[in-house]
Amino acid sequence: MTDIARRAEAVPLYGEDYRTDPAGAYEQIREKHGPVAPVLLEGDIPAWFVCGYRELHQVTSDATLFARDTRRWNAWETVPDDWSLLPQLVHNPSVMFTEGPDHRRRAGALSDALASVDQFELASLCERIADQMIDRFAGAGEAELMSQYASRIPLRAAAMMCGVPESEARMLVDDVMGALDSSMTNQMAVYGRLQEEMQRLVDHKRATPGSDVPSHLLANPANLGDEEILSDLLVVLVQAHQQTTNWIGNTIGLMLTDTRFAITLSGGRASVGDALNEVLWHDTPTQNYLGRVATRDTRLGGQRIRTGDLLVLGLAAANADPQVRPAEGAVGNRAMMSFGHGEHGCPYPAPELAEIIAKSSVEVLIDRLPDLVLSDALEWRPSVWTRGLRRLPVTFTPTYVP
Ligand code: HEM
Repeated sequence: MTDIARRAEAVPLYGEDYRTDPAGAYEQIREKHGPVAPVLLEGDIPAWFVCGYRELHQVTSDATLFARDTRRWNAWETVPDDWSLLPQLVHNPSVMFTEGPDHRRRAGALSDALASVDQFELASLCERIADQMIDRFAGAGEAELMSQYASRIPLRAAAMMCGVPESEARMLVDDVMGALDSSMTNQMAVYGRLQEEMQRLVDHKRATPGSDVPSHLLANPANLGDEEILSDLLVVLVQAHQQTTNWIGNTIGLMLTDTRFAITLSGGRASVGDALNEVLWHDTPTQNYLGRVATRDTRLGGQRIRTGDLLVLGLAAANADPQVRPAEGAVGNRAMMSFGHGEHGCPYPAPELAEIIAKSSVEVLIDRLPDLVLSDALEWRPSVWTRGLRRLPVTFTPTYVP
């Protein structure tokens, strides 16, 4: 048993509280244990929860001491084969689990390739997709915006960034969504198919390069192999889809429930940026992230961490740390931890691209359907890891679309 498991007072990092009142749950952990807390993941597997802003900054800034390759974890033998968190923790050949110079080579190439995306084109592409989606339900006077809108735009935008034609993008989108929503066994099968699709894409871009992310990765002097490129393209697609979808959904949810944003819905776009920023502080899509593994015994936030211990990045909890954030909130300030930080943080300019996708999606929606109202209470997904809405049912005045 590790030190963490021995701690009788370890707090479960699962259960209803994290869905109904995640901020309250993090606050209780912080009050009980301070900035680094012993927690039990589902199945009562022990880990450390880093909820102090300063400590999280320290962990994410030191990739040598707090490493990303989960094969270093000291508790693998305690984990059941069907453990629900395996998809997040099992090592795969993507950039996410790579370390040191190899990671810098791949993350650098990804940043270069993402920097080649024309941000004006991306915005107009997203506006076009948003319009198409709204055309489909505008006449009905009601919609469920998570499935009919928020989840539709980011992945199609990402598929286009990857140079996937519109017709194939839909298939890819369905496969990625299927992989995320199914069991581990199924996920493996769908991922196998996705990898084949990605390999075909890479082969095609090698033969006919374009101005897109895979072509830029192929041309990068980092000399990336096919397996590296296709697994990193999958990370780009999954990240762009999952995180940006929830960012859009949480923002629309905030604007429909908070009277401060009512003016925007009825009259203009002024505070869409504020709403997006506020969501990153208060209801960030990646609430908690698995994680980092200590490469040697150390102390952190007053706790003794052993070699091989697993650390959960408490991104949402760190954003709410009273040491850095006054009670009134910090809208306007962009120092939130929502995109992670350091070597493994969301690579520049991915946060900018995500913001363009999210902002275009929210703006087009409120331009087209300015009298949008919620038709039922917001219903959050029961996840400790991701903060996202299960359903976002709305009504509005139907408009005829020729
Ligand atoms: C265009 C959209 C996006 C793309 C292409 C993208 C891409 C990526 C990639 C490639 C990584 C892995 C970095 C590495 O391990 O070196 C990553 C990490 C991450 N991304 Fe993003 N991302 C996007 C949007 C978002 C959004 C909207 C959020 C949340 C608001 C987000 C939060 C994160 C977090 C928390 C990590 C892990 C950070 C860490 O380990 O420190 N991403 N992203």
